[in-house]
Amino acid sequence: MRQAIASAEVGDEQRGEDPTVNLLQERVAQLLGKESALWFPGGTMCNFVAIKVHTQPADAVIADGMAHIIRAESGGVSFSSRVLVEGIPTERGIFTPDALSQALARLKTVPSPYGPVARLLCVEQTHNFGGGTLWSLAELKAVAEAARAEGLAVHMDGARLFNACIASGVSAAQFSALVDSLWIDFTKGLGAPIGAMLAGSKEFIAQARRYKHVFGGAMRQAGIAAAGCLHALDHHVHRLAEDHANARRLADGLARIPGVRLTTPLPETNMVFFDMGGTGLSNEQVVTALAGRGVRVGQVRGLIRAVTHLDVSRSDIETTLSAVADIVSNSAPGHE
Ligand SMILES: Cc1ncc(COP(=O)(O)O)c(C=O)c1O
Repeated sequence: MRQAIASAEVGDEQRGEDPTVNLLQERVAQLLGKESALWFPGGTMCNFVAIKVHTQPADAVIADGMAHIIRAESGGVSFSSRVLVEGIPTERGIFTPDALSQALARLKTVPSPYGPVARLLCVEQTHNFGGGTLWSLAELKAVAEAARAEGLAVHMDGARLFNACIASGVSAAQFSALVDSLWIDFTKGLGAPIGAMLAGSKEFIAQARRYKHVFGGAMRQAGIAAAGCLHALDHHVHRLAEDHANARRLADGLARIPGVRLTTPLPETNMVFFDMGGTGLSNEQVVTALAGRGVRVGQVRGLIRAVTHLDVSRSDIETTLSAVADIVSNSAPGHE
């Protein structure tokens, strides 16, 4: 990837003259079966711009209550689009047409003009805070159709779309066909340093290009970054299966340590969420102790979140399991 980056052909991305960015845009549009795709420095900006294009101020956007746009983008959609986000309560981040109609009913608590107008449904594939969970094609089709029937557009935060594709055997184009706009991230499991790509109709992308400029996302010789993303598409998609296998091995090993509780016994993709409460240690203590041993895990929803990716090997998983077991047994009563 470093070599591809170093030898990238570049031009002025703001003017649409960077050949490597242009190549990546064409490739992603084709991969996702959309008319157009647009380069972005990162995924958060893709969400902001997509929501801006789909909505008018004071509109309502519906999303799962744990969606990244609600929980982890600094409230940015209310800042940039001035929309209200109606959260659907879920366990895994995946919901049904029924839950969507309940959300719509809440928005219609009182008749127009008092209630906000619902304009957009956002789904996340895979769902980060839901546990790296997967929308099946059938689940997604059902909610997308229900949303369209209510006049809503559908946007997919596909930060980890390829994890979903590898886990389910469904192509990116099949998932993409169900939504109006979507984006993919090159900096998650794909392992590139910079870059995301938003896709949709020609008209949608033309508007997105303007807002990308408004958001300060237009770049100059971005081809150096896009070259890393092309390399990632060529070399890092199929290997996501290794990350999923590593997550399963981690979950399996953790489940054997007394007092460790997993939120789901089998991770669907590359994330493992677990709680250490039953060991007498807090999650915070374990995260700190692991960091002291060179193992970095985070805390999300009051749980520990471990994410596998291309810089985590099978032997790193074994090291992590030994470290957790060791931390737990060192804390056992009577241990000096
Ligand atoms: C589901 C989801 N959406 C959006 C983002 C934001 O992406 P980026 O870090 O490229 O801005 C993330 C990042 O973790 C994410 O997990």
